[in-house]
Amino acid sequence: MKISIIGTGYIGSVTGACFAEMGHQIIFVGRDTKKLDLIKSGKSPIFEPGLDQLLLKNQERITTTTDIADAVRNTEITFIGVGTPPREDGSSDLSQIETVSHSIGKALRSDSKYHTIVAKSTVLPGTIEDLIIPILEKESGKKAFIDFGVASNPEFLKEGTAIEDFFKTDRVVIGAQDQKSRDLLEKLYKPLNVPIFKTTLRTSEMIKFASNAFLATKISFANEIGNLCKELGIDSYSVFEGVGLDTRINPKFFRTGIGFGGSCFPKDVCALIAHAKSKGITTKVLNSVMEINDDQPKRMIALLKKHINPKNRTIGVLGLAFKPDTDDIRKARAIPIINMLLKAGARVKVYDPVAMDNFRQQFPDLHYTSSASEVLTADAVLIVTEWKEFENLDYHGKLVIDGRRVEKARNEAAIYEGVCW
Ligand code: UDX
Repeated sequence: MKISIIGTGYIGSVTGACFAEMGHQIIFVGRDTKKLDLIKSGKSPIFEPGLDQLLLKNQERITTTTDIADAVRNTEITFIGVGTPPREDGSSDLSQIETVSHSIGKALRSDSKYHTIVAKSTVLPGTIEDLIIPILEKESGKKAFIDFGVASNPEFLKEGTAIEDFFKTDRVVIGAQDQKSRDLLEKLYKPLNVPIFKTTLRTSEMIKFASNAFLATKISFANEIGNLCKELGIDSYSVFEGVGLDTRINPKFFRTGIGFGGSCFPKDVCALIAHAKSKGITTKVLNSVMEINDDQPKRMIALLKKHINPKNRTIGVLGLAFKPDTDDIRKARAIPIINMLLKAGARVKVYDPVAMDNFRQQFPDLHYTSSASEVLTADAVLIVTEWKEFENLDYHGKLVIDGRRVEKARNEAAIYEGVCW
């Protein structure tokens, strides 16, 4: 199949590389020529394990362009994978989706074949029908589902394991109204041999939000119980191991600690809350999910203060990325934690194997060290991201507050506090 992928961020680059690996011809479309050049030369524009190799291996099936019209005319299906960043009020900024839809619509005008446009970016229920389709129809002068197809196909990729998640996904969700688009997407995903769930456009859009909101709820629920466990001297990790054995519940996404960050959970939950509010619905559970998540970093600082007054002391922070195996610091827990440390008058020493450059842009004045062990010379150490290498440090004699359950620190530190254990 000939496929256009619009957007060279997480969704676009991973989806395109994986489709190329499946044997399809891919045209990557982006505005940033530097990123396109990287892709063309077989290098990943983002930090994602295994992506470089996949792009390099499939170089002959991959081309790039800045011209959407060119890509649309030369392919049969276009995936929109541009960003939908959060606005100040929590709602999603859809300007990139709009811009891209205008360009695709114009391209459809002179495209004689039946082309299917697929929204892979996370968009609120109704966005395809109420925003994307009207733009496409106006710009093309054609009718959706008659002259061209439109579908929703949300991604469920986790940063750091995105490639594995693509090929071994629990399910593919296809939202479509026209049979041709539904069949095309089904044909595309069939070789993965995974369950394919077919539904309407709006339902598909909602499945993505409900999935992320549920996983975020699971984490905040675990943290709420975890906070109580801490008070009662119970290990919440053992509790959720036991709870997770119930197949109705499942053991995944029960890791307690300082809560969730990243580009999806906080953004998607807030967007859903804002959307519900605009429809007059109060989201009591989701409001609490965010409230608990905002409180977990505060608990970490409170535990630190139990042992040491951070004022004029050096506090080390291990890990800045929102989770291991990524350089992404969007909504990383390290941000509120470091802000609180600075406010308390601490000198902050930090280390992360890959996210320091990104972090430096927001926090230029921290002491960035060249190794994790250098951070351990601080008066106290906070573990904020569970990078594997932090399991190899020598924590003997140290004061450690652990937000992510690093076993070696738990076993060795002179004074050790886990946030929920
Ligand atoms: C998430 C979804 O998992 C994915 O399906 C969606 O498409 C994109 O958003 P991602 O943000 O890459 O993926 O990371 P994920 O592994 O889900 O972790 C998100 C955050 O939750 C991280 O900060 C992580 O540390 C935290 N988390 C995760 C916990 O605190 N406890 C857990 O048990 C799991």
